[in-house]
Amino acid sequence: MKPTIFITRKLPDELVAPLKEKFTVRMWDSEDVAVPAEVLREEIVQADALWTMLSDTIDRDMLESATNLKVISNLAVGFNNIDIKAAEEKGIIVTNTPDVLTETTADLAFGLLLATARRFNSAEKELREGGWLSWTPMGYTGMDVYGTTIGIIGMGRIGEAVARRAKGFNMHVLYHNRSRKHETEDKFGVKYAELDDLLKRADHVVILVPLTEETKGMIGERELSLMKKTATLISVSRGGIVDEIALYDALKNNTIFAAGLDVFEKEPIPLEHPLLTLANVTAVPHIGSASVQTRRAMMALNAQAIIDVLEGNEPKNRVN
Ligand code: DGY
Repeated sequence: MKPTIFITRKLPDELVAPLKEKFTVRMWDSEDVAVPAEVLREEIVQADALWTMLSDTIDRDMLESATNLKVISNLAVGFNNIDIKAAEEKGIIVTNTPDVLTETTADLAFGLLLATARRFNSAEKELREGGWLSWTPMGYTGMDVYGTTIGIIGMGRIGEAVARRAKGFNMHVLYHNRSRKHETEDKFGVKYAELDDLLKRADHVVILVPLTEETKGMIGERELSLMKKTATLISVSRGGIVDEIALYDALKNNTIFAAGLDVFEKEPIPLEHPLLTLANVTAVPHIGSASVQTRRAMMALNAQAIIDVLEGNEPKNRVN
């Protein structure tokens, strides 16, 4: 019998076709609606491979049902949606999609920084709603980006790509990371700072750390209170790192200037969420890696990892 692959979202035919030649492919039939947990629980029983999205929760309980599962290939660089320890205990390989999304995600981070600091969203909204009545000297004014100080929290591949962009904007680059990156410091002229120091000095703070037990709630009321009143906060890695209630208070009370958010504690963010009532929030729906080229490159990595494992070879981008 051919091994079975379950794909948790409808993916483009041409990316799935190579798998169909060799394996039995089962695929959830919607691109927009996530597979319900009960369907996933049934599929996981017989699957040899799972191709998952970052929105699928693969916890210990879900993995209990897996009897044949050899590999989970996750369409994301982040893998906080999967219980890696539980997978490892069951001998299941987990793979992700790093590198191919680095520049695209850094583009989004930097674009969101520009949009947030220069208030693209509220200016555009007012124009569309007929609120642009005349050119005004201080109308729609935001905060400068060029020549200011950026503080990058999390100096991994994407952090480094954001730092390169910042250098092009003549920015002074501070970073905070679990470990010092001496090579990156030498290569790009970025400077290490303790977290509190970075928060006090940066005009723009960009969060790029993965979501772990250690980073959960890392930016709360205390941290936000250290930031400049004129500062922007850009969150592009995972929701849950920034305390959203504390962020709402800080934005409402003008403790900081504005926030640009690509990720949220709960995704999709509920429409009644208080953050969405604020004009100084620029919010986009988790689109860091969302370019046609990059999403296809990510999917190609996923498909190859599944083929590799099911054919008994070592896959690239193994995270456990
Ligand atoms: C990832 O791949 O983890 C990113 O969040 C995609 O935008």
